[in-house]
Amino acid sequence: MKKIIIAIDGYSSCGKSSFAKAIAARLGYLFIDTGAMYRAVALFARQEGMIKDGKINEKELISRLNEIHLSFHYCPETQKSDIYLNGENVEKLIRSMEVSRYVSSISAIPEVRKFLVSRQQQMGMDKGVVMDGRDIGTVVFPNAELKLFMTAAPEVRAERRYKELRAQGSSVSFDEILRNIEERDRLDTERAVSPLRQAPDALLLDNSHMSIPEQMEWVMKLIKERTQE
Ligand code: DC
Repeated sequence: MKKIIIAIDGYSSCGKSSFAKAIAARLGYLFIDTGAMYRAVALFARQEGMIKDGKINEKELISRLNEIHLSFHYCPETQKSDIYLNGENVEKLIRSMEVSRYVSSISAIPEVRKFLVSRQQQMGMDKGVVMDGRDIGTVVFPNAELKLFMTAAPEVRAERRYKELRAQGSSVSFDEILRNIEERDRLDTERAVSPLRQAPDALLLDNSHMSIPEQMEWVMKLIKERTQE
């Protein structure tokens, strides 16, 4: 069976990563969560004191991008790939509300995008990869064999995120999450560089009322078609 690139783009918190991960596991493909890479850069900026009073020192961040080394390593305990920032597992740290608050601004910096897009292209060079993000089908892999664009109602997405964060012991409120999701949708779609867009050849998947097994059945048919030599 031919190996392909599967690009999954869409709005935040609509289950892109869980879906991408499940597809990759089923196919034995590499899964790359590009949102985690933007989050890790945001974390780096904060840890290095480049964010003060909500303002990012873009100039310093750009000049220090070469100090950022990102990699993914499989964790047998959680059965997923965790992201490492300069050798440290930061999977938990990058999911905090604090990082969520400024990651959209970080990802709007053209130099940051250029830096990460080039890393992502290297990671997918050998195909057999499922990559999820905002610009995978439009910028990173415009020739991907299968492109999906995922969406779900903001309230449905906020509810899922709320349950996830609560399960981790966070006391964040539903309203705060909903506001954060709506604000990120706005920033992601309105930014000047690589705004979130459905590629003309991407298939739309609204999973507001679909379970993972239902989504899986739908996608496996498409994958079968595209992997036949
Ligand atoms: O998927 P996520 O919510 O973890 O992504 C975090 C942020 O990174 C999101 O606000 C948009 C940005 N992002 C991006 O601009 N391009 C990507 N390919 C992936 C994420």
